[in-house]
Amino acid sequence: MKKIFLFGNWKMNQSLRATENFAAESAAFFSERPGLKAETEICIFPPFVLIPEAVKNFTNLGVTVGAQNASDHGEGAYTGEVAPSMLKEAGCRYVIVGHSERRHIYGESSELVNKKALNCLTSGLIPVLCVGETLEERDAGRTTDVISDQLRKGVKDFPAGAAYVVAYEPVWAIGTGRAASAEDAEKVCRLIKDSVRVPVLYGGSVKPSNAAELFSRPSIDGGLIGGASLKARDFFAILKNFR
Ligand code: G3H
Repeated sequence: MKKIFLFGNWKMNQSLRATENFAAESAAFFSERPGLKAETEICIFPPFVLIPEAVKNFTNLGVTVGAQNASDHGEGAYTGEVAPSMLKEAGCRYVIVGHSERRHIYGESSELVNKKALNCLTSGLIPVLCVGETLEERDAGRTTDVISDQLRKGVKDFPAGAAYVVAYEPVWAIGTGRAASAEDAEKVCRLIKDSVRVPVLYGGSVKPSNAAELFSRPSIDGGLIGGASLKARDFFAILKNFR
C-alpha cells in the first residue's frame, strides 16, 4: 500500500484558537483510527505567525508542520522576509516554494523559486515545489511544455539525492471547485515522476468526494489541499474516504 501525503495549506487563514481546535480534532480522529499514521505523511502549512503554535500542538500527534514560503536569502537586512534557517529552528520540516499564488500574485519567477528551494535544502528543509499551467496555457495545448520548464528550472542545481516533493497544481483548478479529472492529473503527475522520481502530489479543489479517485492513480502520491484543509472535519474526511 503506498504512503499517502496529505498536505494542508492554510494560506492566509486561521488563528491561534483555530490551530488548537484543529489539533484537538486531529487527536480525536487518530484515536479512532490509530493505524492511519503509519500509512500517511500529514503536514500542515500555517501562516508564519502560527507555526510555533502548530508545532506545539501537532508534533506529538505525528503531524508535521511546514511553511508556505521562505526567503531566497540567509539572515540579514531583508525586511519582511523569513530565512529557511529560522523555519528550521521553529520546527518546520517542509516549505512550499513556487505556489501559483506566489508566482502569479507576487510575480515570482522560476529562477527565484529555484533560489528559494536551494536555500531550503541548505537549511535541511524539504521543498515542496509547486508547478502548474494556467487555463490559457492548457487551452493552447502547452501544459507539458509549461510543466517541464517549471520543473527543470525549479530543481536546477539540486544536489544528487536531495529530498523534495513536487506538487502539480493546475492554476485553473485552485480554489475553483473544479478539480482536474483523475485521468488528466495522472498524465501530468506521470510526466513529472518519470523525470524526477520523488513524491508527486496533486492540488486544486481536492475534497472528500474526489480524493479517493485522484489518490488511487499510480503517479499521484497524495494532495496539497487548500480550502478543504481549513476544517479538521473536511481534511480528515478526505483520508477517511480513501483509507
Ligand atoms: O495549496 C493548495 C492549493 O492551492 C489548492 O487549493 O484546495 O483550495 O483548491 P484548493
